[in-house]
Amino acid sequence: MSFDLVLFGGTGDLAWRKLMPALFQAFRHGTLPEGGRIIGVGRDNLSHDQYRALLHERFNNVEIAKRPSEEEFTLFAQLIQFVRMDLSKPDDYASLAATLQQRNADTVVMYVATAPSLFTVVCEQLGAAGLNTPKTRIVLEKPLGHDLASNRAINKAVCKVFGEKQVFRIDHYLGKPAVQNLFALRFGNALFEPLWRREHIANIQITIAEELGVETRGAFYETTGAMRDMVQNHALQLLCAIGMEPPINAHADAIRDEKLKVLRSLKPWTAESLGTDVIRGQYAAGSIMGSAVPGYREELGVNAESHTETFVALRTEISNWRWAGVPFYIRTGKRLAGRDARIVVNFRPTPHAIFNAQIGASNSLVINLQPKDGLELHLLAQGASNRRQQQALSPVQLDLDFDKRFGTGRVGAYERLLLDVIDGRLNLFVRSDEQEEAWRWVEPILQHWKNDAQGPRPYAAGTWGPSASSAMIARDGYCWSEEN
Ligand code: BG6
Repeated sequence: MSFDLVLFGGTGDLAWRKLMPALFQAFRHGTLPEGGRIIGVGRDNLSHDQYRALLHERFNNVEIAKRPSEEEFTLFAQLIQFVRMDLSKPDDYASLAATLQQRNADTVVMYVATAPSLFTVVCEQLGAAGLNTPKTRIVLEKPLGHDLASNRAINKAVCKVFGEKQVFRIDHYLGKPAVQNLFALRFGNALFEPLWRREHIANIQITIAEELGVETRGAFYETTGAMRDMVQNHALQLLCAIGMEPPINAHADAIRDEKLKVLRSLKPWTAESLGTDVIRGQYAAGSIMGSAVPGYREELGVNAESHTETFVALRTEISNWRWAGVPFYIRTGKRLAGRDARIVVNFRPTPHAIFNAQIGASNSLVINLQPKDGLELHLLAQGASNRRQQQALSPVQLDLDFDKRFGTGRVGAYERLLLDVIDGRLNLFVRSDEQEEAWRWVEPILQHWKNDAQGPRPYAAGTWGPSASSAMIARDGYCWSEEN
């Protein structure tokens, strides 16, 4: 099957850092269908060879194991071309159409990795140039809009030109191996299903912590913030994967229907819960791995009095029979104490204690997404050899490290998702109604913050965020997993 992959934003950060390295990995693994062409699109006046040379240079920033050798690069570069385009000019789409017609590939993928403000115009122009044939698929990067209205406007414009089955809204968290394994754990095994409910689960914690600050993206981040950048999409998708009912089959719509139900069941915000159950923070200067780092307001492109949040912690519930009353905590932030993404499922304590020191003992299942992916099951066991301690239980941990089990060369998130687009598999992509529902739910928070002159609470870089985040969870009698 031949394909053409057109990469709008071909000289942008995402193309260099994620998309090209992922395409190269697929090429190296032999999974990129043969007969493919990757066409970078940008405003610069570059020849094919100049673009390839830039790509070659950018591969130096990729971790060594994922960098091509000279021979590999020469072969990979044969797939790469460049087309100069001004995305607002109809004529430029006509010449893109001519380039594509020369080859008439079986599948044409339009990957729009540009600023979201260009999504609408790109879709309209693709339609006007007749580039929306049934063999075309369009990939849209997040963020899709900055609120419900703008998200709807984009989806409306896209759906005028493409059918929903042609639209691949990417959330790279869904492509992470750990998320695949979460689906496998829940729907490929019977073990946990009877326990996966309010009767047995005390609370669930979703943490996506980053050590990095906003780096060179200060100007973008100023208008985005952690809620739009991470919670509206990645964190809510994880919450759906944890909370959804088993789908009737593994087809895209069966999965997406169940995720949508979760989003629709999220407890609506009230004036009171907006005040008590959502904490926003912003990093101040601090230290990461022993090195001093500046505060958010000192970063390039950031307003010195910015109210943009770099941290969010919140408490919500899924109001349905399975989950009523179980708190789901979400926490994400930049410049936190570690790069650490995990979901912790805390089970209820034993109802009656017969061992010493067992009061309140409980089990937990940890799904690690980053830096390594794997599962940990926390149990209590009697390990003491000393007779006097015999009645005491000690915590033990069963580990399933997926790298050790399956090797480290597994398929990364973007690699997997790009191959899914080329193959036309929509399972791991987000449908417009899911996206709208997620926006509908976060909007009252954004509105509340807009009217709240207090702004985010400062936290020192290298910590776990403002202390109010721990206080919020402590109110329910729980603590974040690292505080245990
Ligand atoms: C992106 C956000 O979607 O996800 C970034 O825009 C964030 O701000 C990144 O750093 C995190 O992704 P990962 O895969 O490194 O956890």
